[in-house]
This record gives sequence, structure tokens and C-alpha cells, in this order.
Amino acid sequence: MKLRALNQRVGVKDERVLVRVDTDVPVVKGKVVEGQNGRLHRAAVGIEWLRQRGAKVIVIGHRGRPNGKRVAALSLAPVARKLEELMTGTVSFSKEITGPRVKKRVESMEPGDILVLENVRFLQGEEKNDPEVGSKLASLGDLYVNDAFATSHREHASLCLLARLLPSYAGLELQHEVEVLSKVLRRAPASLLVILGGKKIHTKIETLEAFLRAGARVCIGGALATPFYQAQGWGIGNSSYDKKDLPLSKELLKRYGKQLILPEDVVTVRVIRRRAPQTASLGTEVEDRGIIVDVGPQTIKRFQEEMSLAKTIVWNGPLGIVETPDFAKGTHAVVKAMARQTGRAMTVVGGGDTVPVVDALGLHHAFTLVSTGGGAMMAFLAGQKMPGLEALKIS
Ligand code: 3PG
Repeated sequence: MKLRALNQRVGVKDERVLVRVDTDVPVVKGKVVEGQNGRLHRAAVGIEWLRQRGAKVIVIGHRGRPNGKRVAALSLAPVARKLEELMTGTVSFSKEITGPRVKKRVESMEPGDILVLENVRFLQGEEKNDPEVGSKLASLGDLYVNDAFATSHREHASLCLLARLLPSYAGLELQHEVEVLSKVLRRAPASLLVILGGKKIHTKIETLEAFLRAGARVCIGGALATPFYQAQGWGIGNSSYDKKDLPLSKELLKRYGKQLILPEDVVTVRVIRRRAPQTASLGTEVEDRGIIVDVGPQTIKRFQEEMSLAKTIVWNGPLGIVETPDFAKGTHAVVKAMARQTGRAMTVVGGGDTVPVVDALGLHHAFTLVSTGGGAMMAFLAGQKMPGLEALKIS
């Protein structure tokens, strides 16, 4: 996929440039918490690029799913503060997203100024791709840059309509992600290994099925594996899972059983807390009071063997409860093993819970690509249409 690129040829001096970035980042006690590969660190590069070339940069972003209402806990004020830390100049924040007050602020901007608008999902029509929201936002700018790869699978006004209402370009970060992921797409699906963890299979079903249909092999771990254990009639002890996922898991096992690689052994505890005594057991022998918190050593070995045979490896979602360091061993071992495959294979990781693991291990330079997107990366690789990219396409 080729996109209209924002490069040296596009003059941005004195222009009001609306930049859509993915600002959906964790905030703890009013502060953004993210590693060097976090979304804001990555977005800051493109914003700084525009700032240094004399653009008046208006940043549009979202956090969470406020459903068109103002939710104080999802404000972008902490995002603006974090961006200021990462920038060479000052960064201002506007509580208004559209309307005369914000227009006035934009009119008074000087070249190189940066203004972050409040969470665009506070607007009723944003997620409905409402033309009124599109035109109100468009009236604030001369050019539009989409640098929010992680949200580009959504058909939202700030992604789709703005790109059609203003001269529009792909941002530097988005351009890079699309280039690398397009190379991955051109590779034979049969040599692709997907490692999928995290929760809720029903939110990942479309992409998972697309990979399986194309012939990829898929290693499943984390909470995602629990309904598959159930589907096979294994015990899961006290581990919880979404019952909605059971029929789906059964169906997938029936249709693609040979391509699905499930954990052979797991680590369980009786209570989820630090230093809880751990038991390693075969997937078939989980004790009644056990809660599955990680994959076991046999599974790690099996996943490593699968990786050594693949030409492309894509990973999304932790394989255990990584928030508790004691239960992150399986995920860490698999991530390190994957990093060792880089060069021999293309290695791509992405996702909100996944990238922090990579950062914590200091492995952010050890992969072909660390994508800012989780759902977006998987959708792109599964060949799904990306509404946010459609208007930027040149081929
Ligand atoms: C993400 O965090 O994956 C993106 O920001 C998209 O968020 P959404 O799933 O709420 O649209």
C-alpha cells in the first residue's frame, strides 16, 4: 500500500496543520506512563518535524471510549504535559475541541506553536463519522496529517472525514509502519507465525480467522487460551473466562486445529498476588483450585521451535498476567526468543499491553517493527480495510 507522504516537498511553513495522533496512553495519577517506544514518544517525532519547519501544529487525539461525553479521567491534559516534556518548545492545551474560542486560539498561533485539543471522542459525532464534526474540525486547519496508525482501522470523523476535506498526508510514523507491514503482507502466509495472547477472543476473532484461512500458524497464550482448554474438555481450575468465547473456540479448533498451537503446560497459583506459590502442570492436569497465570516451560520450548521455522513472526498480547512480574516469565522468555529471530525472520510486535513488555526488557530495537497499533496492526496484516488509510492511498 502506497500513501501520500508528508516529506520535504510539502511546504508547511505558516500552515495550520491538523495532526491526528494516537494519544490513547496509560495515565496514572495525572501523569502519562509510557516507555521509550510509547505512542507519545513516537508521535512527538512527527510533531517536532512539523514544528521545526514552521507549521502551526494542532494535535487531535483520543483516550479511551468516552462515548461522546466529557469524562475528566480521559482528558488529554496529561498528554499535552507529556508532549511538552518531549518537545523543544512549549505545548498549549485547549479544553475546547471545536467552536469560536478554539478558532480564536488557532488564529493567534505563531509558526512553531503546538496546540493540543481535548479528547476528540468527547464529541458526540466523532465515532459516528459525523460530517458536522468533520467540517468543524477541518475549519481549524489548512492541511491534515494522519500519524495515528493505531486508530486507522476506525471509521471516525477525525480520521476519515478530515482526510477528505483537507489536503491530506500520511505522517512519518504511520508511513513507516505501513511500509514495513506491507512488506510482511507480501510474504507467503504459510511461513507466517502469529503469537496471540491477551484476552477476549471475540474481539480478535475476525483477524484470527483471516490468518488461519490464509494458512498461518497461530500460537495462543494468555487468557485467550482458556476457552480453548475448555473447548477441549480440559480443566481450568478457578481461572475465569468469558463464556461467550467457548462456541467460537470450539469452532476454530474444529476447522483449524492443525494450525493452532495451544499451551501444553501452564503455571497456576491459588491467589493472584506477588510471591504466591506456583505450580507447573500439564494443561490437562490443572488442579481444581488453580488459576492459570502463565505458560509453562514446555510451551515456551514449543513456541520457540515454531518460531525457528517461520519466516515472519507477529506477536500481539501477553501470554500471562504480566502486570505481576512473577507471572511474566513465559512472556519474557518468548519475547526474548522472538528478538533472537530478527534478521533471519521479520519480527513484528504491537499492542497496548505488548509494547510495554518490550520496553521493560530494553528490546525495542530488537524487532523489525514495534507497531504502535494492536488491533490496527492485526487488522492490517489480516488484509482488512483500514478506513483511516483509504483517503491517503495513492495505490
Ligand atoms: C488502541 O488503543 O488500540 C487505539 O487507540 C484504538 O482504540 P479503540 O479500540 O478504542 O478504537
